[in-house]
Amino acid sequence: MRILANGTLVTPEGLRHGDVALDGDKIARIAAHIEPTDGDEVEDVRGCWVFPGFIDGHTHMQCWTGMDWTADSFETGTRAAACGGTTTIVDYATADRGVTMPDALDEWHRRADGTCTANYAFHMALAEWNERNREDLAVMRERGVCSFKTYFAYDHLRLDDAETLAVMESLEPLGGTLCVHCENGTLVNELQRRVYDEGIHGPEGHPLSRPAECEAEAISRLLYLAHLAGDARVNVVHLSTKMGLDAIRAAKARGQRNIFVETCPQYLLLDDTCFLEQGEDGLAGLAYVMSPPPRKPVDRAALREALLAGEIDTIATDHCSFNIHGQKDRGAEDFRKVPNGGAGVEHRPALVATTFEGQLGPEDLCRLMSENPARVFGMFPRKGALVEGADADVCVWDPKATWTISAATQHQNVDHTPYEGFECHGRAHLVYVNGELAARDGEPTGAMPGRYVAR
Ligand code: URP
Ligand code: ZN
Ligand code: ZN
Repeated sequence: MRILANGTLVTPEGLRHGDVALDGDKIARIAAHIEPTDGDEVEDVRGCWVFPGFIDGHTHMQCWTGMDWTADSFETGTRAAACGGTTTIVDYATADRGVTMPDALDEWHRRADGTCTANYAFHMALAEWNERNREDLAVMRERGVCSFKTYFAYDHLRLDDAETLAVMESLEPLGGTLCVHCENGTLVNELQRRVYDEGIHGPEGHPLSRPAECEAEAISRLLYLAHLAGDARVNVVHLSTKMGLDAIRAAKARGQRNIFVETCPQYLLLDDTCFLEQGEDGLAGLAYVMSPPPRKPVDRAALREALLAGEIDTIATDHCSFNIHGQKDRGAEDFRKVPNGGAGVEHRPALVATTFEGQLGPEDLCRLMSENPARVFGMFPRKGALVEGADADVCVWDPKATWTISAATQHQNVDHTPYEGFECHGRAHLVYVNGELAARDGEPTGAMPGRYVAR
């Protein structure tokens, strides 16, 4: 057995001082003291917080997003995730128009299986609604997929309101969750044209063409549809605005109980002045072209307040990485041509722990980045809980470590990070995936213990 001794254990019953024993791929014992026997390995983790491994419920690895292939493969993306303390990602497999969901799932398995350092589960995104997809929802459930996604934006992906309603109604008997990208795509298309025609062509045009109203209207519409469907179980992904938050509050006030809310570090840390950054080559602002875009300081403040008030369930990354040079720079003269997406899977735990130091304690970090993602996406308590019998996915966190985020030293396969120069307080010291040491002090060990998580 491997014994992690003398840690501050972040358990469902609260913080306790003690030891955790990992046996193979399971957590075998948790106790105030575990006496090692012959052959046991002991790691003294005094001064560290011992978390169930962090879970990132929103990533896009190794996929075509309509403009380009993401820079991170499952291999590089899950390795980077593990270096930061994330032991499981839930990635968006996508059934494009004309592709069945089982075929899409097969394809995502081909991309991921055998290459992953962290565990991986799949949501299934649907780009069309038809009888075949309706029948295949049950097939997806059998194959371990219990969360689905639809879009209100992006012409090649989006469903209309009637189709979105039908997806919710069809998921209800299966107990599935619908994750929705909430931006009004018709409005975005029109505003993109207007902003460009006004002569604004650089990345600063991106947030102007996707104002808060586009998000808030789509969230409001989604939640009325969920109400109509009988309080359907929905997850509002990447919430970025105060107006959107107010739409969620309104739905909760009318009694909807099945709404989950996700935000991401970019909406808690950044604001829209980032689009004006130049860097050495004038291209730095392109890094932030992601949808939704980083918002106004007032939005960021509202999200922070909501997070501290318990109104946000999960923090994910929406990791969807593209290089600035050779990918995003193709849109340097036309913001509409920049592949949308940002990098973050490696840095989420450190960004959140540092930003909310003194405001969010270890139990809060656990709830937002491990327990709640496991609950919302059907993995709890096998994951998301430091309990005997759970999977041996563990992050031993050193809250005293200090280090600086930099593209030069990161493991994400991109030429930049939106958080260059950010000074972190706290770091993943030891990261175990299925009982194997996958990363130590931010560096990978080379092990690839990641497995598919059927939910
Ligand atoms: O810009 C982003 N977020 N790209 C990834 C796809 C999505 O909208 O989640
Ligand atoms: Zn999205
Ligand atoms: Zn996304």
